[in-house]
Amino acid sequence: MEQQLQAVSGAAAQQSPEQQADAEAGQAYFDRAMAADSRIEPRDWMPDAYRRTLVRQISQHAHSEIIGMQPEANWITRAPSLKRKAILMAKVQDEAGHGLYLYSAAETLGTSRDEMMGQLVAGKARYSSIFNYPTVTWADMGAIGWMVDGAAICNQVPLCRASFGPYGRAMVRVCKEESFHQRQGFEILLELANGTPAQKQMAQDAVNRWYAPSLMMFGPPDDDSPNSKQSMAWNIKRFSNDELRSRFVGMMAEQVKVLGLSLPDAEIRFNEETKKWEHGALDWDEFKEVLAGRGPCNAQRMERRREAHEGGAWVREAATAYAAKMAAKNEVAA
Ligand SMILES: [Fe+2]
Ligand SMILES: [Fe+2]
Repeated sequence: MEQQLQAVSGAAAQQSPEQQADAEAGQAYFDRAMAADSRIEPRDWMPDAYRRTLVRQISQHAHSEIIGMQPEANWITRAPSLKRKAILMAKVQDEAGHGLYLYSAAETLGTSRDEMMGQLVAGKARYSSIFNYPTVTWADMGAIGWMVDGAAICNQVPLCRASFGPYGRAMVRVCKEESFHQRQGFEILLELANGTPAQKQMAQDAVNRWYAPSLMMFGPPDDDSPNSKQSMAWNIKRFSNDELRSRFVGMMAEQVKVLGLSLPDAEIRFNEETKKWEHGALDWDEFKEVLAGRGPCNAQRMERRREAHEGGAWVREAATAYAAKMAAKNEVAA
């Protein structure tokens, strides 16, 4: 499939006149689709750069879901009750499912899951920096659900309208599950905040630690985000990083009052003139350090991922052998 797609979407170099005419017609179709804000499907012609951008974004997103299972899985055996354990297990499984929808969406662009997974375990692919922070107390399960899944929702709801069909459709289901994740996180914090003074303090500490990293999930400030403009022109990204961050801060600032906790930022305010929420300065040097692989848990996350990948090899082999056996059986029957 990859070769076929590349044949019609390749650059003008070394193309026959027929291929060039196809590419021109394809580009015209693509431009009309962008202007009409309609969808591009896997079989449609698309510019190479659009395809590359999507493969990068969707695979990074898939990797984030899979790596993101680790900080929370860390607490499954230590959940404070059977009910909490069951909920957390379901949540971590949801994240695996999100990874699967997204790898499948990326595969429709002609890159195999093996290749994407290979890039991840070789340390060549990125995933969201937030998952390189440690989960030190049970309250972190609450803070992650409320803030990290909350930031993911702000980011992903507009992606339901992304121009690439399989990505947008995957996001619809992902967002429904993320809202459950956010509520369960909020509920964990609410219970702790109404518990003993020590429990309330534990909740506040977790909120303090996850606040800045969750704001940085939206990516660098707009004037330092070179790819954003093109992604917006392609109807993949709908709002700028700063716009989404501002909305998120507004949402958190209201909800934290219900928790009876506070956000560790004295500069949060609603600007009546711009009608936007503002927040204090963020440490972008720290963000870049974590992105460069020097965060508190980068090495551990990658090591666990590799172990899981190698440890799961026999499952993949067995599944492939079983599928071949069934296919052969069906052929005989047919
Ligand atoms: Fe997720
Ligand atoms: Fe989630």
